[in-house]
This record gives sequence, C-alpha cells and structure tokens, in this order.
Amino acid sequence: DAPEAMEPRPPVVTIMGHVDHGKTSLLDKIREARVADGEAGGITQHIGAYQIERDGKKISFLDTPGHEAFTAMRARGAQATDIAILVVAADDSVMPQTIESIKHAKAAEVPMIVAINKMDTPGADANKVRTELLQHEVFVEGMGGEILDVEVSAKTGDGIDNLLDAINLQSELLELQANPDRPAEGIVIEAQLDKGRGAVATIIVQRGTLKKGDIVVAGSEWGRVRAMIDDHGKQMEEAGPSTPCEVLGLSGAPSAGDQLVVVDSESRAREVSDYRQRK
Ligand code: GTP
Ligand code: NA
Ligand code: MG
Repeated sequence: DAPEAMEPRPPVVTIMGHVDHGKTSLLDKIREARVADGEAGGITQHIGAYQIERDGKKISFLDTPGHEAFTAMRARGAQATDIAILVVAADDSVMPQTIESIKHAKAAEVPMIVAINKMDTPGADANKVRTELLQHEVFVEGMGGEILDVEVSAKTGDGIDNLLDAINLQSELLELQANPDRPAEGIVIEAQLDKGRGAVATIIVQRGTLKKGDIVVAGSEWGRVRAMIDDHGKQMEEAGPSTPCEVLGLSGAPSAGDQLVVVDSESRAREVSDYRQRK
C-alpha cells in the first residue's frame, strides 16, 4: 500500500486547572478575541468546542472542563487533546486540582502550557506559582525548564495573544498531521437529545474528512449525517482533521469520549452498533 498522504492539522487544546482559577473566563476571552477580530456575525453558538485563527493558523479549543473531558476519554482509551493549558490563578497558586490536572496531562503524555492567570489582581505572584510547580516536576521556561509559561488576565485580556503564540509554537514542535483523504474518524466531546433536532453530538474529527450524508457509528448509536453545524451555527458540507462540529442524524446521544467512525453501509453500521452494545 502507498503511505497515507499526511497533511498538517491544527492542534486541539484543552483547558485544565483548579476550581475558579479562570478556565471558563479564559475560554470566553479567547473566543471573544476571535469575534473582535472581525469574524462574521459575532454571535457564537455554544457547541462544546470552537476554533479560532491566530497568524493564519487554526487552533481548536475544547470548551468543556478539561478534567471531565480527560476522565471520560481516558476511560475509553481515547485521546482528543494535543495540548493542555494548565491555568493557575496567580493569587491562589498551586491547589489540589492543579496537581490532579498535572497528573492527567502527564499520564496522557499531553504537553502542557502554563497560563498564570489573574495577573491583574493585587495578590498576584507569578514566581510563587513557578516555584510551586517545580515541586510537582513542572519545569517552566521561567525556571530554566522547557514548559512554556505565560502570564495572563482573563479579565483584562492581557497576555492572551502571548498564550495563543505559545500554543502555535508548541503546535509547531509537535508537527501534528493527519490524512484528510479518508473516511472520517472522530471523538465525541459531548452529546444530548434536543427536542427539535433529535440527537446532537459535538465531535472533533481526528482523521479523514466527515461529509454530510456519511453513515456513522458513534459509541453504539448510528445514523446518516443529516446536517453538520459549525461553532457559528452555520451548516457545513464537510469537516476535516481537528475541526469541531455538531453532527445531527444519530439514533441517540452517544457519550463523551465515544469514537465516531464512518462505515460504508447501514447494515455495517448496525453490525458495529450491535457489537459495541454487547461489549
Ligand atoms: P470552575 O469551572 O468552577 O472550576 O471555575 P473556572 O476555572 O472556570 O473559573 P471561572 O472562569 O468561572 O472564574 C472564577 C472567578 O474568577 C470568576 O468570578 C471570574 O470572574 C474570576 N476571574 C477569572 N479570571 C480572572 C482574571 O484574570 N482576573 C480576575 N480578577 N478575576 C478573574
Ligand atoms: Na467558577
Ligand atoms: Mg468553569
């Protein structure tokens, strides 16, 4: 067989950290910056994942608490994340869930970038954060290590651009690639049953390209992709590697971390679905 034609793909980024250290605020600020950059509409749909562009490079963010995404996915042996942002509030420093997050990222062998948040607060002490991270074998650049660390404020927006630059830098080092020219495989980020639309699954395509009309199995649910919707609420015809989208047309709501695969017939879809149900 000829080797697969690999092409560069955007990184998929998760945000982790202790409660109230600013994960949601940071995700919101990053998304806001995108809207401010003049993207159409300015109204963003919440779909559990979104994509931005920085210096012409796309970055996908999982808009779910990192630890939940990690736990659900690792339980299924899946890995949706390329880079983990560890958020540590500069006025609170390293806390129990910071340490948990470090363990998750290390176990999954996902590179970390440390975002030292709340730098606008009077009690902010970035060096205390760096020093305490040393005790957990997180060696940031500011301490002579190799893990990128960026001081930010999700409140004022200071440092957000530096954080995005750090993501692009880390992403270049990873040389992320995927073959877009094959049937899609992806991972379910979240899913629910919607009164009007039926089962709605937010997925990230990992390899290949998902197309409207494809027959898919996600967990033990299956169906023909009736519609795909991006994070602006716009209909899509297809989604390539690292692209987040909502998928409509499944028989029911799969679970976070479930794998989605394209199959070549409905009978095959039923078979795979039956097999997965029996497991
Ligand atoms: P959980 O999801 O509950 O774990 O919290 P979180 O990590 O998502 O934190 P969240 O974004 O909800 O922020 C917690 C609180 O900190 C909120 O009151 C935010 O407004 C505040 N906050 C977040 N980032 C900053 C910041 O950079 N500066 C200041 N001053 N406050 C911030
Ligand atoms: Na909170
Ligand atoms: Mg939150």
